[in-house]
Amino acid sequence: MASRIAVVTGSNKGIGFAIVRALCKEFDGYVYLTARDEERGKKAVEDLEKEGLHPKFHQLDITNQKSIDNLQKYLKDKYGGLDVLVNNAAIAYKKKDAASFAEQAEVTIACNFTGTLDVCKALLPLIKPHGRVVNLASFVGKRSLDGMRDDLSSKFKSPSLTEAELVSLLEEFVVAAKAGTHTEIGYPNTAYGMSKVGVMALTGVQARDLKNDPREDILIMACCPGHVDTDMSSHQGTKTPDEGAETPAYLALLPPNSNGFQGEMFQDKKLYQWR
Ligand SMILES: NC(=O)c1ccc[n+]([C@@H]2O[C@H](COP(=O)([O-])OP(=O)(O)OC[C@H]3O[C@@H](n4cnc5c(N)ncnc54)[C@H](OP(=O)(O)O)[C@@H]3O)[C@@H](O)[C@H]2O)c1
Repeated sequence: MASRIAVVTGSNKGIGFAIVRALCKEFDGYVYLTARDEERGKKAVEDLEKEGLHPKFHQLDITNQKSIDNLQKYLKDKYGGLDVLVNNAAIAYKKKDAASFAEQAEVTIACNFTGTLDVCKALLPLIKPHGRVVNLASFVGKRSLDGMRDDLSSKFKSPSLTEAELVSLLEEFVVAAKAGTHTEIGYPNTAYGMSKVGVMALTGVQARDLKNDPREDILIMACCPGHVDTDMSSHQGTKTPDEGAETPAYLALLPPNSNGFQGEMFQDKKLYQWR
């Protein structure tokens, strides 16, 4: 029988590392820990090996198209595709970071939204029947939508939103951030929050697009891991990374023909209404 494959982006540390740990214990197949930095990735694999777990490693920088293409080719040639994709990799500037808001908006959207989209464009066509795709979003995304001008937030929430429209909206946010007019035109003052609004809306768009896909029972879902003690949260989060990994791993491991999940967002394994 063909090997089953799970891939977790940005998994050399934090929640992604804990998702790999959880999947190594429960997923019936090979689990790929991926990292933009090969050394950090291989060190993380060694750490899990010390726990008696055996993840595999592949380099992946979600902001580098060549790196995405390399992983795509590798998975296609070696396994004919993959079964689980967890889009976990992301960045967040610290409050005291000296970078201008313009720079933060451009770099954050490029990584968290566009990078995730580019990985999806490369790997969703390779997802096998009964495959599961989990996009790490955040409660900060919901807060950002709530703080947005109503007519703008309606666009992100629209059930008929297209991928192209979503990309344009985030481009509009970055252009406005560079001009210093983003709050004037109704966007919230958070680059990270906007990137996660993008991920939440993208999940809905992708799920709708899957309706016309001949492959059986592929689910694509978003989730919030909660407030987790990682480098990203400056270790202010109340959950451990293993606790933060519970919902993403649960979604990644959903059994065949699970109902009520397609295109939805989850927190603590429960439906999280953001629209
Ligand atoms: N922590 C929280 O409270 C919280 C709350 C809500 C949602 N989330 C979401 O949960 C996910 C994981 O967050 P975390 O707290 O575990 O963050 P983290 O500790 O900062 O880890 C982020 C991971 O993403 C990787 N990464 C960053 N840019 C990348 C790129 N271009 N290509 C590939 N990998 C990249 C990092 O690699 P390097 O080591 O090379 O930097 C690292 O492995 C994120 O999507 C985050 O937005 C977190």
